Amino acid sequence: MNQEVRDLASFEDARPDNIEMLAEVRAGLLSTPKTLPCKYFYDERGSDLFQKICDLPEYYPTRAETGLLKSMAGEIAELIGPGCQMIEYGCGSSEKMRIVLSALIEPESFTAVDISKEHLLVVTEALSLEYPDLMVHAVSADFVRPFAVPAMVGTGLRVGFFPGSTIGNFTHEGAIEFLIGTKEVVGPNGAMLIGVDLKKDERILHAAYNDSQGVTAAFNLNLLARLNRELGATFDLCRFRHDAFYNAERSRIEMHLVSLSEQTVTLGGEVFSFQKDETIHTENSYKYSPGEFRALAARAGYKTTMTWIDTNSLFGIYFLQPQT
Ligand code: AVJ
Repeated sequence: MNQEVRDLASFEDARPDNIEMLAEVRAGLLSTPKTLPCKYFYDERGSDLFQKICDLPEYYPTRAETGLLKSMAGEIAELIGPGCQMIEYGCGSSEKMRIVLSALIEPESFTAVDISKEHLLVVTEALSLEYPDLMVHAVSADFVRPFAVPAMVGTGLRVGFFPGSTIGNFTHEGAIEFLIGTKEVVGPNGAMLIGVDLKKDERILHAAYNDSQGVTAAFNLNLLARLNRELGATFDLCRFRHDAFYNAERSRIEMHLVSLSEQTVTLGGEVFSFQKDETIHTENSYKYSPGEFRALAARAGYKTTMTWIDTNSLFGIYFLQPQT
């Protein structure tokens, strides 16, 4: 086995290649208004910048969710029972997974699925050394597409863990489609443990995506830098600026990159024109009240058997089980 993955039970690389990335990026830049897929934020630098976002004073979700997980981990472990198989969608910092893993009763395996290969390997290698009795599998893939779950033995519950409100990146329809897909992965007796950001005072939301140190701006702009690095695009980073605001009508934060002037950019031998003030819509981050999220889960065929909210009403964690 490859030296860099020596401590893992398995590693599978199924990331979108450059050809796929170019096709998706091209389609986004040809649509009106222009868009780019937010999953491409997470190259090595983007994953590092996202970690920095999680530590920002303004970015409350990580702290709220981590605190909530610590206080409810015992309860979750009771619900899940011994010998479970955990599957994490997008493996983030893995600090949240550690909180859950440490509380679980003899978990059998942990499979992390993440689009950033470098990040995934660092995180899963560390986990596998920390939990020597746990089988750790790494799958580098876009988790929206079907991916192969490594063969799992044992009879414990399969539990999908989807923290960080990443589900907020999907439209409502997209989220339902995603949740339906997870039922194939966890099976009729499995469960999903999902962290979802709550609706709240718009000023708190605004600050979380417009931090004073400009880390979120750098994260957003890194998408263009990545297209330059990996696809040979010619974006001039000085001629775009970060923009993030709460769209109350649609209950979502929108992130955009705004063209500061009329300009053209070359990508894959094609020229794309930008008007002054034209935007590229790079991300949505939908916010849900507990009732709205449970209704969405129900439309995907899940019943919500537990809801936890932190004391400041910032963040929700939901335990979903397939409707029988
Ligand atoms: C990882 C998708 C949950 O929407 O809050 C953070 C990404 N974007 N700051 C979010 C993000 C800007 C984050 N998610």
